[in-house]
Amino acid sequence: MASRVEQFPEWIQVDGKWKRKSDHFRRNISMENFSVDSVLDALHLNLDALQDIQGRMHSDMVKGLGAASNKAAVVKMFPTYVRSLPDGSENGDFFALDLGGSNFRVLLVKLRDGNVEMKSKVYKIATEIMTGTGENLFNYIADCLAEFKKEQGLEGKDLPLGFTFSFPCRQNGLNSASLVTWTKGFSATGVVDQDVAKLLSEACKRRNVNLDIIAVVNDTTGTLMSCAHADSNCYVGLIIGTGTNACYMEALDEVELWNGDKGEPKQTIINMEWGAFGDDGSIEDIRTDFDRELDKITLNQGKQLYEKMISGMYLGEISRQAILKLAKEKLLFNGVVSAELQKPWAFESKFLTDIEKDVSTDGLVCREILRQLNCRDTMEDVTVVRAICSAVSTRAAKLVTAGLAAVIKKMGRKTLTIGVDGSLYKYHPRFHPLMDTFTRELVPEARVKYMLSEDGSGKGAALIAAVAVRLTGK
Ligand code: BGC
Repeated sequence: MASRVEQFPEWIQVDGKWKRKSDHFRRNISMENFSVDSVLDALHLNLDALQDIQGRMHSDMVKGLGAASNKAAVVKMFPTYVRSLPDGSENGDFFALDLGGSNFRVLLVKLRDGNVEMKSKVYKIATEIMTGTGENLFNYIADCLAEFKKEQGLEGKDLPLGFTFSFPCRQNGLNSASLVTWTKGFSATGVVDQDVAKLLSEACKRRNVNLDIIAVVNDTTGTLMSCAHADSNCYVGLIIGTGTNACYMEALDEVELWNGDKGEPKQTIINMEWGAFGDDGSIEDIRTDFDRELDKITLNQGKQLYEKMISGMYLGEISRQAILKLAKEKLLFNGVVSAELQKPWAFESKFLTDIEKDVSTDGLVCREILRQLNCRDTMEDVTVVRAICSAVSTRAAKLVTAGLAAVIKKMGRKTLTIGVDGSLYKYHPRFHPLMDTFTRELVPEARVKYMLSEDGSGKGAALIAAVAVRLTGK
């Protein structure tokens, strides 16, 4: 296997060109190679490891789909009750709400014979709202909806609404979903185990806002729907943003848990909630001390361990942990860590994207970021920090692809489009090319196309509402 493993070296940019990390470090860094390498090596995953992860994800998917095994499964594989993809004939005006990170959006979506026109407004969700009471959170959402309706001259209007709520939910039907647990820094009280559609309806009643919720949707499902609207070969939705998750169209026969209608179409979209992969200890062998340190400062300790190795909320902090380790060994900043960099979360995930976008020889962007953080920025420091960012994001791209490889193999399709949304995937310069490369390695038998979803969660929620309206003739 050694030669194949070599196809997955860690790459860094030197003089604007990509070089193998190991070659560069052995030759150019005049410090204890072993220590810099050992930190980077801990973040390295070879092809064997990825194939292994893929196998474990596959077993967890089967476990999650099984009626008897689901209870103990960490990858929950929630059936969504979304069973038909759009066929282009959806028409009408819809509202969509999109809650899943630090921003909340309200949208007005107009579907006209395959064309989509959208108006939307973004509202910031303050940390106090994310971590306060559920009642305040839903009141805030209702207030934003009311304000948006007013601005659009649609006050009092009762359009069908799709609610994208991007947290792990057990669906009780298309328009009812109970929150299983919060993720991504949310902890609003009184919401876990409650039907979020009901909480929203109650808040709208309190605020005198009309509401007609047709569907509660995960962002992955919204993304799949919006990409399937443009490409009928799209059967998987993927998010790599603040959090990560995937969904795909599964045959009903495979879904032992299914308690809905067993008629045509004999399929349903499964919201995998793969971020929880590893929460039962199954990926401890690939987690590093940096991952463990990061976990300690999160609200949901010991949870969403796969997500915490992949998504935008966490990559900056993992990098900071690796940087601190090297500084402690006096291999960075001459051993001095600035007060700024000592602060948890001080190294933002956005820095990784910015640093890796910069192909200049002297890493001007990295240098500027280190300056902002009041850190020493010698050429060597800059090179090492760039290598850390590269190792952290490469590992994330590999892990996502290993998870997707399990999905692709499970579906058994030879050609397939995967709809993708999320800031990390969109803005990080190497995520997409790395995923392409690793996909070809892990599933050479399939032709997989990644399709960037433009506004998947909002548009998708409206499309789901539209398909439901079309099918029920409501
Ligand atoms: C949530 C998922 C969501 C994903 C991407 C995760 O933290 O559990 O429901 O799809 O983030 O937003």
